[in-house]
Amino acid sequence: MKKTMMQIIDGKKISQDLKNELKADVAHFQANTGKVPGLTVIIVGQDPASQVYVRNKAKSCLEIGMHSTVIEMPHDTPQETLLNTIRELNQDPAVHGILVQQPLPKQIDEFAVTLAIDPSKDVDGFHPENLGRLVMGHLDKCFVSCTPYGILELLDRYNIETKGKHCVVVGRSNIVGKPMANLMMQKLDATNCTVTVCHSATRDIPSFTKQADILIAAIGKARFITADMIKPGAVVIDVGINRIEDQSTKSGYRLVGDVDYDGVAALASAITPVPGGVGPMTIAMLLKNTLQSFRRINNL
Ligand code: GUN
Repeated sequence: MKKTMMQIIDGKKISQDLKNELKADVAHFQANTGKVPGLTVIIVGQDPASQVYVRNKAKSCLEIGMHSTVIEMPHDTPQETLLNTIRELNQDPAVHGILVQQPLPKQIDEFAVTLAIDPSKDVDGFHPENLGRLVMGHLDKCFVSCTPYGILELLDRYNIETKGKHCVVVGRSNIVGKPMANLMMQKLDATNCTVTVCHSATRDIPSFTKQADILIAAIGKARFITADMIKPGAVVIDVGINRIEDQSTKSGYRLVGDVDYDGVAALASAITPVPGGVGPMTIAMLLKNTLQSFRRINNL
């Protein structure tokens, strides 16, 4: 069988293209209104991975001319203190996006925090009002959570045919799997698929993944998806970011996805690498959501 060229989906490049577009939009709106979009990120505690993510979010805001504030709270912050801060930010006209970095310390109920954020500033798209609107197909009147939104952007910018295709999503989290599956089944240019969702209680996961024209892996297990689970020619989207030990590196570890890249890439028609695939898109979509919030609040 003649194999056509395999395409590596370059999230690093697409996210940079998108950031350049957003930077021009921010400059345009600033020239017309004298205002800029503002994102406030709250981090509770000192989880090292979260600190890196939050730093990258703030840096990306500044790169495109947005205002960025990071509020750091100690790990023993009572829930009510965090909720009061969120209520103040809900009322602050200079804040267009509010993001509370997860995971949160155990004394804080993540759902209570999600509910406290004004849905019109919930640039994470986690609030049930936003997720509900997404499920109902009102994408122009909600915030789409950043990772699924970034995947739609990649499929669209790589002109990947989706209509009528079978998309298999592995993973059912509120942040990725659930919104992703819902988006993929909608009547949108970048979706319109038949969708199957697999999860930890699914019997014989390979029997489903082998049917996938588009496979989206969001399981959180290093290299879970192997070549024998793939239909030749499939488009493979890897959401995973897993640390594995690697003594040959300076840090002693390296990042791998939920997909066994080398084996799967040999069969796929297109694949996202880790790092450099879905990951960089997530921050770019957060910026896009923050600009969208600014435009809605200012009727632009
Ligand atoms: N922790 C890891 N990813 C995310 C994200 O996209 N949003 C929030 N709030 N926390 C996270």
